[in-house]
Amino acid sequence: MGKRAYNFGAGPCTLPLPVLEEAQREFVDYMNSGMSVIEMSHRGKEYDKTHAEAMALAKEVYGVPEDFEVIFVQGGATLQFAMVPMNLIEPGKKAAYICCGEWSGKAFKEAKIFGEAYPAWDGKSIQYSRMPKNSEIKIQEGTAYLHMTSNETIGGIRNIEWPEVNVPIVADMSSDFMSRPIPWEKFDIVYGGIQKNLGPSGMAMVFVRKSILDKCNKNIATYLRYDIHVNNQSLYNTPPVFSVYMMGKVLKWMKAQGGLKDIEETATRRASLVYGVIDKSSGYYRSHVEKEYRSIMNIVFRLPTEVLEEKFLAEAKKANFVGLKGHKSVGGCRASCYNAVTDEAVYSLRDFMEKFQKENPA
Ligand SMILES: Cc1ncc(COP(=O)(O)O)c(C=O)c1O
Repeated sequence: MGKRAYNFGAGPCTLPLPVLEEAQREFVDYMNSGMSVIEMSHRGKEYDKTHAEAMALAKEVYGVPEDFEVIFVQGGATLQFAMVPMNLIEPGKKAAYICCGEWSGKAFKEAKIFGEAYPAWDGKSIQYSRMPKNSEIKIQEGTAYLHMTSNETIGGIRNIEWPEVNVPIVADMSSDFMSRPIPWEKFDIVYGGIQKNLGPSGMAMVFVRKSILDKCNKNIATYLRYDIHVNNQSLYNTPPVFSVYMMGKVLKWMKAQGGLKDIEETATRRASLVYGVIDKSSGYYRSHVEKEYRSIMNIVFRLPTEVLEEKFLAEAKKANFVGLKGHKSVGGCRASCYNAVTDEAVYSLRDFMEKFQKENPA
């Protein structure tokens, strides 16, 4: 095998090597069936076990309380931008959105197609440099739910306090899914695309509070109804079998890491290595994010000029780094330090950034 890339991609992204190797070993003959997992029926006993295990592990690793169901749905987090308002906005009610960057903006836009929606806070005027403080979130009369994005993947900010509101909260946690414990009592729905911390692309995982299922709108396309997925154990149609299978393995790996508290500690320690370089660089590496709100998953930074940024990315590529280019909408650089990024990769990035600054003064 060639050298593994230091992959800091924002998703799809690096996955744990032991998981990839195990999947490789069993790829053509899964559970002595004489078939690959992607060749067999999703109603057969091998897949059935795989599916059930992944569901149980997801709940166990995330500490999900008994009063939540877990759903596997195709369409990524983007389909959830639509499914949430379609299921939850009752006639005469409206939805509140925390607008904290690109992804929350997309979710908000989608909600307005299906019903009335308003910004409960908008960080545009401060260039999305932080999340709202709780006192800044304004909920109007007749609000069905508050939608939040716990970590903005492009802007590199994350929630450090959870909203204190008197309406149910729906959270897009795609880019910090299962990277820290969360206060479940606050949420009715927690969702995310799994292609960052949990597996390959191809599906979203959605946790839905059981008590809201009866109230969900039934007058929408069948596939888009949460209750249908729950009642069919996410086997209403052919599920994304490979994504579920891989996610099950990643979850086992996460459990072996010691669970969410340990994962959070590791992520915090690793992020501080990269932020440490930024902070010690006398303004050479710049971040627009207010320190307290810095994401520990997606670290965004700029260099003194775009020319230096291009050089940085070109040299990084030669030095085995992948995925360091910022999102096309904002430019600059971004290092996504998801759960499976190794310490070796992060230490190497820290050293590379320090060396680059020395060799390329502003
Ligand atoms: C916070 C956030 N929400 C939603 C999405 C969209 O996810 P998907 O591509 O699974 O639809 C992304 C993708 O990166 C994201 O980072």
